[in-house]
Amino acid sequence: MSIGKKLHIGMSLAPTWLSGDAWRRADSDVEHLYSSEFYIDLAKRAEAAKLDFVFRPDALFLNAAAVEDGPGFASLDPTILLASIARETSRIGLLSTVSTTFYPPYVVARQIQSLNWISNGRAGWNIVTALDGNENFGLSAMPSAQERYERAAEFAKVVGLLWESYPHAALKVQREGAHYADPSLVKPINHQGTHFSVKGPLNLPACGEIPIPLIQAGASPAGRDFAASVADAVFLSAPDKEAGIEQRKDLRARAEAHGRKADDIRILPGLSLYLASSRAQALDLFAETHARLDKARKIASIREMTGLDLSQWPTDRRIRLADLPPPPPNVRSRTHSDLLRRVISREEPTVAELLMRPEVIGSAHWQVIGKVDDAIEQIKDWAVSGAMDGFIALPGGAVSSMRLVLEELAPRLVEEGLFREEYSGATFADHLRD
Ligand SMILES: Cc1cc2nc3c(=O)[nH]c(=O)nc-3n(C[C@H](O)[C@H](O)[C@H](O)COP(=O)(O)O)c2cc1C
Repeated sequence: MSIGKKLHIGMSLAPTWLSGDAWRRADSDVEHLYSSEFYIDLAKRAEAAKLDFVFRPDALFLNAAAVEDGPGFASLDPTILLASIARETSRIGLLSTVSTTFYPPYVVARQIQSLNWISNGRAGWNIVTALDGNENFGLSAMPSAQERYERAAEFAKVVGLLWESYPHAALKVQREGAHYADPSLVKPINHQGTHFSVKGPLNLPACGEIPIPLIQAGASPAGRDFAASVADAVFLSAPDKEAGIEQRKDLRARAEAHGRKADDIRILPGLSLYLASSRAQALDLFAETHARLDKARKIASIREMTGLDLSQWPTDRRIRLADLPPPPPNVRSRTHSDLLRRVISREEPTVAELLMRPEVIGSAHWQVIGKVDDAIEQIKDWAVSGAMDGFIALPGGAVSSMRLVLEELAPRLVEEGLFREEYSGATFADHLRD
């Protein structure tokens, strides 16, 4: 078996292992969810396992009804949180999620470059175009996906220009002669575009010469094309290996069409890991986590993604592609609605089966429910099949599952020759180049 390069592995700090009913477990530590100590502890564990990065997804809205039965997406601001983690770690990459739909690029360029300084070159930017939250920013409707991606492309370009506008090389710091920086190298960007007008330069020099890694999530054709033009890695929703192979092939070809090398873009599917010491225990963990999942909420989400209303369907009735109305024009995430249509067309599941699929309950992520051995087998299989360049670990079910990922799965991947034993560099970009 030959895989060539080592895998790149990140872990979500979301924390996914407290979702569903898992936050109610005695050892969940959920009381400390809004403290930096909670996340510093996780990041230190992930750094001890030599992961490429930890990252924090983000949303700029709150579903108030959902707080009744779980923490959901209420969270600390990711960039501020990662700045506190930066002070307590020294090698692991710190990937912040910032939406291009609601923020101004000058602020984002400065925040991410600040995180880069505070962490000595370990910042990364997860570029999202957001799913909701328009009313928190004075917009009566969510801009269409097409508009959001157009804005994202211009946004990323402006941020890149701002990062170059005060290059590290301009810093001279010569006390004798009183030369702090060379102003001839610090230039305005004078950007006048469709969405932004930004003069520049940024009021913060670049930290070193190495570019800050950009990660993207969103796999509609527009999303893939945007990712292929700028992203160093893509956070993928791929519920099965074939979805990973197809998307990886497509993204690599699109990167080449943009004049980049196929290897410049790493494909990292999310991987939900419900791990325990036996398969039966792992299945219990999964079942307990989802025991009280609100059926009405799942049915509403299927209706929103596909237009199909299953509320009156018997649970044993099979759903076929022909049952689906034409795709609704303005779905929040084309990625997720396409993956849901795909599973209906491929598997014709019953209503009960569909309601437990990762496309409905797990953001359409690849899912392993079993022992560490089971996870290793699947990871090897996906890697040799060309379905991924690594993954973003989303441990599920309990704290014990997260610990198994970091304390057993990662070392086993090292033994198998699939993952680094030690960091070879000090920056996030170094880890992605390993
Ligand atoms: C795997 C994945 C993770 C995402 N994470 C976030 C996130 O943390 N915050 C956010 O606002 N949007 C997130 N998104 C939404 C995307 O940025 C994008 O707005 C959405 O998927 C619509 O684009 P699409 O039509 O290409 O799917 C995510 C999407 C995917 C597929």
